[in-house]
Amino acid sequence: MHIHRLEKIWLGLGLGTLFVFLGVLGVSAFAMGAATPSMHHHTIDPTKVNQTAPFDQPGIKQVADKEYEAVMTAFAFGYAPEKMEVPVGSTVHFTVTSSDVIHGFEIPGTNVNMMIVPGEISQVSHTFTKPGEYLILCNEYCGSAHEMMKTTIIVK
Ligand code: CUA
Repeated sequence: MHIHRLEKIWLGLGLGTLFVFLGVLGVSAFAMGAATPSMHHHTIDPTKVNQTAPFDQPGIKQVADKEYEAVMTAFAFGYAPEKMEVPVGSTVHFTVTSSDVIHGFEIPGTNVNMMIVPGEISQVSHTFTKPGEYLILCNEYCGSAHEMMKTTIIVK
């Protein structure tokens, strides 16, 4: 009798935990559902990257004093645009997506290091305080020519 009662308590606790767990799941599912519309502009059809603005025209443009916006695409095996140049002290806002598989976006010597996922738009900003030729490298294995995947940003 005593044991039976204990089992009931444990069962009750188990069910309680389960309901709490389901509740949390429900709440997060609801939150995700609610958040989807506002996140819509951060997703893109990876098969239509080259026809979707702004990625139909990858490039770098000045948006303010010493402030630039770089729109880039990553693909096997390279980045567009191939070369960029900004004056020293410039802040560059990178907006990047992939038109095929997952790629990396790392600028050695800076803290810029992103994963570029097809269907998603990744953004990072960096201020280049020292002149030089900065490599942008892929650090996610993406196929046979992964090692060759890079582009350059010249700061002078
Ligand atoms: Cu792209 Cu490795």
